[in-house]
Order: sequence, then C-alpha cells, then structure tokens
Amino acid sequence: MIDTHAHILNEYYDNIDELVETIKDKNVLYVLNASSNYNEALEIIELSKKYNNFVLPVIGIHPESINEKDKLDDIEKLIKENKVYAIGEIGLDYYWVKDNKEEQKELFIKQIELAKKYNLPIVVHSRDAIQDTFDILKNHKVKGILHAYSGSVEMAREFIKLGYKLGIGGVLTFKNSKLYEVIEQIDLENIVLETDSPYLSPEPFRGKQNNPSNVYYVAKKIAEIKNISVEEVIEKTTKTAIGFFDI
Ligand code: NI
Repeated sequence: MIDTHAHILNEYYDNIDELVETIKDKNVLYVLNASSNYNEALEIIELSKKYNNFVLPVIGIHPESINEKDKLDDIEKLIKENKVYAIGEIGLDYYWVKDNKEEQKELFIKQIELAKKYNLPIVVHSRDAIQDTFDILKNHKVKGILHAYSGSVEMAREFIKLGYKLGIGGVLTFKNSKLYEVIEQIDLENIVLETDSPYLSPEPFRGKQNNPSNVYYVAKKIAEIKNISVEEVIEKTTKTAIGFFDI
C-alpha cells in the first residue's frame, strides 16, 4: 500500500524510527510526506535520507503559511539539490481566512509554475475553495492530486478531465460520508489512498492519532462500496501512485 499524503514529523510522533518499522511490517511500501512550510520541508528531506527513500518528500508552502510566501526561492533550492516527488501541499483555504484570497491564489500559481519548471506533479489542498481551485488548475496545465477530495461527482469528473487523481482518506469511513457516491461513480484508476496522518484517522480509530498503515481501512471501505476485493483496491491504487509520482 502507498499512503500518498501524510505529515510524518517529529512534532507529531514521539518515535519515528518505531513508526517506520511498524508501518513497513504492515505492508506500507512508501509514504508521500507533505510539508506545510519551509522548516517542515527541510525536516522532510532529512527524514527521506534517514529512512532511505521510504518517506518521500513532497514540499511546498500551504495556504495557511502565507506568511512564508517569500520563501519560494528556498523551496526551489531544495528541489534542485534533492530528490523531490511533488510540490505540496499547496492550494487555497478559505475556511480559516477569507480576506487574503488574491494572495493565496498568487502563492498557489507561483508554486504551480515551479512544479512545471521541474516537471513535478502537485498535491492540492482545497478547502471551501473548490471553484477557484478548479479555475486556476484549468488555466495551468500540470498533473496533480486533489488531496482529501470532498467535492461532488460532477466536479470530480471535471478534475479528472484535467488529469487529476482524487486522494481519498479516512473521511470516507465516517458514518454518512458524502464521498460514497464519488467512490461509486469514479473509476478506481482515478483514485489514490491517503491518510493525512497524524490527522483524520479512519474508523475504527476515529479521534486517535493516525498513521500511514491505516490506508488499509480506506481501501477496505472502497472495496465495500465498489463490491470488489480489498486486494484489488490495494493493487490498483498502488500501481497508480507509483506511476503518478514516478517512484
Ligand atoms: Ni495534509
């Protein structure tokens, strides 16, 4: 299994050595480890070296870290000097802050341009901003993943037409999740698994600290909804992720 979106950082986990061993034993092949700011990006690159390319760097400036908008040169330097698998997580978040939309869009677009320059995919965070996200992605051709996808089936189809994959995590396992229809209607080849660890643990661990091996519970739920085997879900989503990130 591949967890295409997690935040494995010392700030969240007391013992990352132990975590890595445990999740390897539970069949996790790789974890894409996403930053929100420059310091996290540095740590993520160090962790990738320490664990021999098991936790793979995805680096960028999250819209909530808009105060770091001038650090893109530093991010670019990291991309030049290290193996990085995507730019992320980047995007728009109008849930917490609504009065800096233009600034957020500018930071998002600049990072999309960076991804294009280095021929990397992007990992997109979009909260209460799906239409603006779509409008920007439509005008800037680059491939990417919509992390924690939570939109409609129709919107999912539009993003897929642009070349996007949907990142599906623990929210799918929650009671009355609105994602059921999306999973029913969208082909498995357009879906990748994620946890967003340490957040958003799937059932039966809701509320506890999450870890990448819990992608299994997301796979299980997808299998249930699509009426196929969990093995098939794992096999296909793993293949998609390997191809997508060019691992
Ligand atoms: Ni995240």
